[in-house]
Amino acid sequence: MEVKNIARLLDKRKSLSPSIIILFICLLSVSLILILFHAQASPFGFVSLSTSSASLSDHDVHGLNSKLRDSVTFLPLKDLRFTKTAMEGNTWFMSSFDDTYEENESQYLYLPSQASKGRLLCIKGHDKRDGTQNSYALAWPESLPNSTTFLNGLTFVSDTYYDYVNLWHGLSAMVPFVGWSMKHRCLKPTRWVLFHWGELRDKMGLWLQNLMEANLGKVQVEELDKGEGPYCFEKAVVMRHNVGKMGKEKKLQVSDLLRCKARVFCGINPTGRRKEVGVRGEPIIRLTLLMRRGSRSFKDPIAVISIFAMECAVVDGCTLEVVQSEDLSFCDQVKLMTNTDILASPHGAQLTNMLFMDRNSSIMEFFPKGWLELAGVDRYTYRWMADQSGMQHRGAWWDSNAEGECPDPKQELECFNFYKDGQVGHNDTYFAGWARTVLNQVRICKLQAMQSSQRYSNACPC
Ligand SMILES: *[C@@H]1O[C@H](CO)[C@@H](O)[C@H](O)[C@H]1NC(C)=O
Ligand SMILES: *[C@@H]1O[C@H](CO)[C@@H](O)[C@H](O)[C@H]1NC(C)=O
Ligand SMILES: *[C@@H]1O[C@H](CO)[C@@H](O)[C@H](O)[C@H]1NC(C)=O
Ligand SMILES: *[C@@H]1O[C@H](CO)[C@@H](O)[C@H](O)[C@H]1NC(C)=O
Repeated sequence: MEVKNIARLLDKRKSLSPSIIILFICLLSVSLILILFHAQASPFGFVSLSTSSASLSDHDVHGLNSKLRDSVTFLPLKDLRFTKTAMEGNTWFMSSFDDTYEENESQYLYLPSQASKGRLLCIKGHDKRDGTQNSYALAWPESLPNSTTFLNGLTFVSDTYYDYVNLWHGLSAMVPFVGWSMKHRCLKPTRWVLFHWGELRDKMGLWLQNLMEANLGKVQVEELDKGEGPYCFEKAVVMRHNVGKMGKEKKLQVSDLLRCKARVFCGINPTGRRKEVGVRGEPIIRLTLLMRRGSRSFKDPIAVISIFAMECAVVDGCTLEVVQSEDLSFCDQVKLMTNTDILASPHGAQLTNMLFMDRNSSIMEFFPKGWLELAGVDRYTYRWMADQSGMQHRGAWWDSNAEGECPDPKQELECFNFYKDGQVGHNDTYFAGWARTVLNQVRICKLQAMQSSQRYSNACPC
């Protein structure tokens, strides 16, 4: 690479003509201009240098490196000029960089790269409230800024518009890293650096951390708090679009891998489950009611449970489990979902666990009043997730009643906030009919699966 060429060139200590020194200094100025303007894919390079046979004295080299060191320019991690398009294009995070885009993959940045002319990514600051207080720069390895902490190995740097605690939001931020790793020999990071709007975050939620440990090894979140100097990364992958442009097939592959690794991590072996039959040879159908407490819980859980219990009782091979989502450890959740064919649950992050069901399993979703009319695309979150993870979303029920009515129906956002965490009622007739339909669909699917000669491997691709 260019940097190596310069180094090799500088190592030869021959005498040289003044005109070559001038040429070299001119080229160096070009490089300084490039740093100042953070040119990413500049048509200029240092290729011409590699064919030249100039050389410099130790003193000159030292002087040049010192100049390069002092010319490293830090820019704010969060660029307020892009506030309105924070998620688009370059995003407001590291806005001077262009993403690498490969077909069907999430866009990403890899540094050092050819586009960075071999320069490393450096990050300075660990503000947790204001992303404009943290900054980034590119620097050559020979000329890292004074008092730099150099971090060896591969670092995953994430910026998300959402957070790392909510299951769904956290998963959206991590999927592109898992996809990147799959594409690159299952490489694992040495550490993570997490941002939200350029603000540093020092941990992931436990669910997410477990999932990442299952897939990418021990999670070490770097807090950038060892001194005030910059941190420069030997190798860094930066993701700032969540799933971004990842293709449908790739999303399914990533979901398959996440599920596979989580099951291995939790010591679960699902062999034979798909073709499991009851005493009379009928397919086993496991229906799980995943309950919530507080916001978006069922107003009358006993009534809801009894409707599903009654419908399940009349289907040969059906078993019903009622589980409180908050009471489960990560592996409890993986195990429960591995043993679920139909997941019925109110809208909420606990539905992210659908990831751990076998492909083609079913979801039934319940919403309190307000979501149908006022939630916009947010109401499709788990429909999309079902699509991305290869599940069947079997529809939703929208409560048309609420405890109170929104005072000013014209204020849509206020009304949505008024309703969104309300409780979910029920409709006996509708729930019973819907449960019957879905149980029947799943029965047919499982019968087909029993007859098919398709074999499933338990080996994870990474
Ligand atoms: C991208 O995905 C599409 C659809 O799955 C596929 O036809 C195409 O070959 C993929 N391209 C690459 C480069 O993998
Ligand atoms: C960095 O350190 C070198 C050597 O100690 C010194 O000459 C230079 O002035 C320093 N630069 C800055 C920007 O502090
Ligand atoms: C999912 O279901 C479809 C149609 O019911 C079937 O063709 C496909 O093989 C199933 N996939 C898996 C992984 O079971
Ligand atoms: C309950 O669902 C049934 C069947 O869809 C419907 O006909 C009925 O109007 C619903 N009842 C209420 C109170 O919404």
